[in-house]
This record gives sequence, C-alpha cells and structure tokens, in this order.
Amino acid sequence: MSTLLLSPNQIDRAVSLLKAGEPVAIPTETVYGLAAPIFNEEGVKKIFFLKGRPSDNPLIAHVTSLEMAEQVVDTSSPHFRPLVNRFWPGPLTLVLPKKERVPDIVSGGHSTLGVRMPKHKIALQLIEAVGEPLVAPSANLSGKPSPTCFEHVLEDFAATLAAVIDGGECSLGIESTVLSLVGETPVILRPGSITREQLEKVLRCSIAIADEKTPAVSPGMKYRHYAPKGTVRIISHPSEIGGAFVLSKDPISPYLHRPLSAKTFYMYLREADRTGAEVIWVFLDPVSATDEALMNRLLRSAGF
Ligand code: TXA
Ligand code: MG
Repeated sequence: MSTLLLSPNQIDRAVSLLKAGEPVAIPTETVYGLAAPIFNEEGVKKIFFLKGRPSDNPLIAHVTSLEMAEQVVDTSSPHFRPLVNRFWPGPLTLVLPKKERVPDIVSGGHSTLGVRMPKHKIALQLIEAVGEPLVAPSANLSGKPSPTCFEHVLEDFAATLAAVIDGGECSLGIESTVLSLVGETPVILRPGSITREQLEKVLRCSIAIADEKTPAVSPGMKYRHYAPKGTVRIISHPSEIGGAFVLSKDPISPYLHRPLSAKTFYMYLREADRTGAEVIWVFLDPVSATDEALMNRLLRSAGF
C-alpha cells in the first residue's frame, strides 16, 4: 500500500477512510496521531496492529465538546470542569471512568479512558465530520520517537498506512500531559507542556506525580519509549563529548550540533537516526534539567 498524502482541504477523503475502518494519521498541536473512530472496532484494531502496540496500552479519545466527552467518560469529578475551562482545547488528557459503551479494546481492558480536546483546526474538523470521538495514539511504531511532521509518520508507516494529512509541523512537539482524576488525589501519569504548578493553581490542591512504583496507573510507562536506533548518552559536561551528534542548549562542539528543547527533541532523535549516528550525546544544562516533560522523554529515550 502506498500512503496517500492529503492536504487540509481533502478532509472528506480522510473521513471516508476513517468511516471505512482505515486508520489515518492526523496532525494535532502536540504530535501526529494515528486516528480511528472510537466505536469503529475494525479501525481501532488496525491501530494496535500497525503500531505493534501492546493490547493492554489504552488509547486516548479526542473530542470537540464537553457533550462528546460525556458520551465516553464519567465527567462527575469536581476537578473536571475547572481544568477543562482553563486548558481545553489544549495538551491536557484527563483520565476518567469509562462509559460501558466504549469498546474494551480502546481502553486496553481498563475501566478508565483518557480524553482530550486538541487545539488544532484540522483535528477538530475531522472529529466533527466523523461525528464521534477519534482515538489516536502517537503515529509512530511502538517504542519509536513520536512524529512531529508528516514525513516522520511516513518513516514508520509508508508501506502500511492508508493516508496521512499534512498539517505542517506540530506547534508543541511533545505529547499531552496525562492527568488521572480517578482517585482522590489527581495524579500526573505523563508530564507534558502543562505543568504540575499550572494544574495545582487551577485545582488549588496538591497533585501527585506517578513513578514506576505506582501500581499500573499508566500501562504505557512499563514499555520502552521514544527510543532512536542510536544510543542516547546524557552528560553534564561538554568536554566529555566524543560523538558526532550532539544535542545541547548552546553550540558546544565542532560536531553535528542541534539545540536541545522539548519542541524539537523527537525531530532531532529522528534526524540522528537518519545520519546513522551510533551515539546521540545530550549535554544537559541546568535549565533544560528543570523541564519535566523534556526530562521524562530524555530519560526514557536513554532507556531509563
Ligand atoms: O498528545 C497526545 O496525547 C498524543 C496526541 C496524538 O493526542 N497522543 C498520545 O497517545 O500521546 P499515546 O497513546 O501515544 O500515549 C498515551 C499515553 C500512554 O502512555 C498510555 O499508557 C497513557 O497515555 N494512557 C492512556 N489512557 C490511559 C488510561 N486510561 N489510564 C492510564 N494511562 C493511560
Ligand atoms: Mg505514544
């Protein structure tokens, strides 16, 4: 199969494919997603198959309204409204009890479901046109860095995917913050560009951050993630650098240098792979070290 490259004015083509059970890669403000309508089990199954995704790793539902969210999750948590009023549309996924009508395959057999409203015109138009939430994990092979432009999607799926919509480069470049509202205390399951401080300010309560020991809260956390082919080595002093591909805040070596930032992190991991770099050296400056989302992805790309 050769993948159709659709322009933003060919949304109708994408809608027909989605309704026929063919996943389509779509742009969002965070990363590109591999989409299927939530109630189309054939399309949802294909997402897992195409990505090589473990079947217990749940998908996120993308909606255009609170009413649409209510079709798939229980929104009675007192934290839901304040967060949605402040952060939707935007990069915040809320994990809530799932409604029974949502197929188990979508939630990987779990009783909860993540929902978010993307801040991207094309994504919103598509969901509206399909008329139901679209589930969409990042449009990469399981374990690989997430895609931030359509070319990255084609690197992973050129021979297997029906279509990708070209929505240009993603404005944020890193996946949404995932916040669970299931227990008494809200828990960040995955850091993103919306920070714990921003969330706590709105909720006026403290929020926990999940770690590897939190029992099965985010099934995705137990799998290796965001990994390029090259080995990622993190160092804190530039003079130790001995490789050809370097990510750092400022240019610090005569080698191939790219700036270190959350927005461009995945893009440069993929570029490093294309150059055949065996080692990707990351010089960690004190400012980048305080960026929770970047540090989370960086450590995981390095295999921690
Ligand atoms: O920005 C994003 O969130 C992108 C765009 C396309 O919207 N999507 C995305 O989906 O990153 P995915 O599937 O690649 O990552 C979702 C993460 C996984 O680690 C998954 O385990 C976790 O969120 N997750 C999803 N639903 C969950 C649930 N019900 N309970 C716990 N963790 C959940
Ligand atoms: Mg992903």
